[in-house]
Amino acid sequence: MLSDSMNKALNDQINAELYSAYMYMSMNAYFKSINLDGFAAWMHAQAVEETEHAQKFYDFVNQRGGRVVLGAIDAPPNEWASPLAVFEDTLAHEQKVTGLINDLMEVALQEKDHATQIFLQWFVTEQVEEEESVGGVLEQLKLMGEAQGGLFMLDRELGKRGGGENGAEEG
Ligand code: FEO
Repeated sequence: MLSDSMNKALNDQINAELYSAYMYMSMNAYFKSINLDGFAAWMHAQAVEETEHAQKFYDFVNQRGGRVVLGAIDAPPNEWASPLAVFEDTLAHEQKVTGLINDLMEVALQEKDHATQIFLQWFVTEQVEEEESVGGVLEQLKLMGEAQGGLFMLDRELGKRGGGENGAEEG
């Protein structure tokens, strides 16, 4: 059985994960609007992953006899100055999420809630991967600077992740 404070903290994380999905959908829309369909596909894949993260927390709260309570999801930004600005926001966002996961782990440790600690370990590892993949794209964008050719090559590269759905088609 979850404590009330652990339950509340996990419900807050469901909201944070759904906000992440919403933010990535907004980034998908931005990239579509500037015809970078590979970047758009990458953002779509990211949004799908975030809804899966929300679902994992949702299922875990129910599994532990807690009560899922859903709150309002904040509106995400809709405009960015450049692809670089999008990825700067993305890295800052994922670093914030890493902090939230660490805070949840602190609550679980204080409460000696071992089941929640084990559940959260997957997210600790996931955040290392998230920051690495986002940071990698950000570094490439910084290196290429204003060169348009590099941007289109990166667009093709990122489009491979989306599998063509809601973004880039191969070829
Ligand atoms: Fe669910 Fe991108 O962290």
